[in-house]
Amino acid sequence: MRTWHTLCRLEDIPVLGSRVVKRAGGDIAVFRNDQDEIFALHDKCPHKGGPLSQGIVFGQTVTCPLHSWQINLASGEALAPDHGCTTRFELKVENGEVLLAL
Ligand code: FES
Repeated sequence: MRTWHTLCRLEDIPVLGSRVVKRAGGDIAVFRNDQDEIFALHDKCPHKGGPLSQGIVFGQTVTCPLHSWQINLASGEALAPDHGCTTRFELKVENGEVLLAL
């Protein structure tokens, strides 16, 4: 069953940046773009495991810091010509609080 966990306030995530949620099953990167949309992905690039949380956010895309693959923040899928997918997690904002479904 899905449980919602309160992470932080929306403004605690830097615009065009991210915040990392540490957990045993692998860290989760929570991104915020310049439209105040938020996304959560496993903090591991589908190419060679680079830390997506340290990538550059643009629109609904993050560019991996290691070899510049572009990953769609909404789906976790690599943009063509690359192939691969990282796990995405559901998020919502309620009363300014970011909640993550695990
Ligand atoms: S590890 Fe992300 S592009 Fe290579």
